[in-house]
Amino acid sequence: MSELIKDISLVKDEKKDVDACGVRVSENTAEQGQRKLYIESYGCQMNFSDSEIVASVMKEANFGTTSNVEDADLVFLNTCSIRDKAEQTVRKRLKYFNAVKDKRPGMVIGVLGCMAERLKEQLLEEEKIVDIVAGPDAYRDLPKLVQEVDGGEKGVNVFLSREETYADISPVRLNSNGITAFISIMRGCDNMCSFCVVPFTRGRERSRDPHSIVAEAKELFDKGYKEVTLLGQNVDSYKWAEEQNNKARLEKIEKKGDEVEIVNFANLLEMVAQVSPDLRVRFSTSHPKDMTDEVLHVMAKYENICKYIHLPAQSGNSRVLDIMNRTYDREWYIGRVDAIRRILGEDCGISSDMIAGFCTETEEEHQDTLTLMDYVKYDFSYMFYYSERPGTLAAKKFEDDIALDVKKRRLSEIINKQNEYSLERNQRDIGKTFKVLIEGYSKRSDEHLQGRNTANKVVVFPKKHYKPGEYAEVKVHDCTSATLLGEAL
Ligand code: SAH
Ligand code: SF4
Ligand code: F3S
Repeated sequence: MSELIKDISLVKDEKKDVDACGVRVSENTAEQGQRKLYIESYGCQMNFSDSEIVASVMKEANFGTTSNVEDADLVFLNTCSIRDKAEQTVRKRLKYFNAVKDKRPGMVIGVLGCMAERLKEQLLEEEKIVDIVAGPDAYRDLPKLVQEVDGGEKGVNVFLSREETYADISPVRLNSNGITAFISIMRGCDNMCSFCVVPFTRGRERSRDPHSIVAEAKELFDKGYKEVTLLGQNVDSYKWAEEQNNKARLEKIEKKGDEVEIVNFANLLEMVAQVSPDLRVRFSTSHPKDMTDEVLHVMAKYENICKYIHLPAQSGNSRVLDIMNRTYDREWYIGRVDAIRRILGEDCGISSDMIAGFCTETEEEHQDTLTLMDYVKYDFSYMFYYSERPGTLAAKKFEDDIALDVKKRRLSEIINKQNEYSLERNQRDIGKTFKVLIEGYSKRSDEHLQGRNTANKVVVFPKKHYKPGEYAEVKVHDCTSATLLGEAL
């Protein structure tokens, strides 16, 4: 085997070593006469959803998708900057793509998404490893940028918009099971949590026209989809009024007391829930500072709105929350959890994100995160150790002073605790019967189906006569910390 191939296969394997949310690769949809586009996406669900918008924009320019990078005319890497490890993974993939390009000279490589915004100059000039750099608000411009490259130029657009929501673009569903789909309802973030790079990479928060959201949900339902997930960095601050789609402008109008009809997240959720009782509705992410009882009451009113809330705490200590600029404290967070339990009951799924070893965090403050977990008993959590991001408020203001081994030890304590509660919460479900939307076959066996219940728990059961896309009533008789095992009634 040549050095190059060995190198490629090594880098290829790195793909499995992905930070947090995983990686998604486009499927084969290219038809005769179309040029082939390979898209690989990293990061959060918003990024995966954006790749579907990109595929749609490129389809108009006569590109079909492929799952094989070695077959592609155009390669897009939709990137994530959230932690250093995520960026390192992407850099390794870029190296691999460049090795493929050496064998396939006409191939064009583009970096999209959050790293594009952060590292434009470096990627284009210093490292000379990409032809196109396009930020999250520049995807309508991609066909033009590709043309520029075809004409011998580099294609660049990292302009962040205050208005772009891609409301009129009907996404090409990549990696679709034909049953569940994402719908972006807003873009950007105005929160400025001190550790977070997202406000810099995705720009100002803006909400999408609710009519276009409901129309997209209807279209999906008519095509046979059974579940939609409404996406935004902070869905509870969704706000929209006719002709006034700008949060700052809306706030001014509200202050003046002018009469405008404003659609908030609770209203939007209700509008989507009314598309059909057979269309399940989920949403993510809820910011504790903005999650209202009004939203919880709408959830309680509609059976098809799933009883599950991703409510990232980040820390259980009020001083740490303060310097994280989360704008709530431990008591406020606990109050929101109590409201969920009061209005939606003990069975409502709750999950969190936690950061271990944020700047200046003491052992006692770390213990507060563990005791918050004891209080809430999360069904599951995404857990990280702090990774300083250049340009963020924390990077400017605080020293990243917790040693790596301490961060890792605190993280493993958080993970161990979560595993205990995941198991405990699943054990509570033994003997109960849940309505499960079947999403496909179990990873381990074709004789078993797999789906999720309303609380977002994965349920596996023998298939009998059931098929993906159907609902089944499943009685749970066993569990692991990750899965409920049962029997369809
Ligand atoms: N908008 C969501 C979070 C999006 S980022 C919210 O406010 O909850 C997803 C998660 O990544 C965050 O919740 C946080 O736990 C983690 N994260 C973000 N920046 C990080 C950093 N610099 N180091 C470690 N984890 C980080
Ligand atoms: Fe980042 Fe905070 Fe915005 Fe979430 S709410 S994306 S953590 S700045
Ligand atoms: Fe990553 Fe950007 Fe999402 S930084 S987590 S892809 S918003």
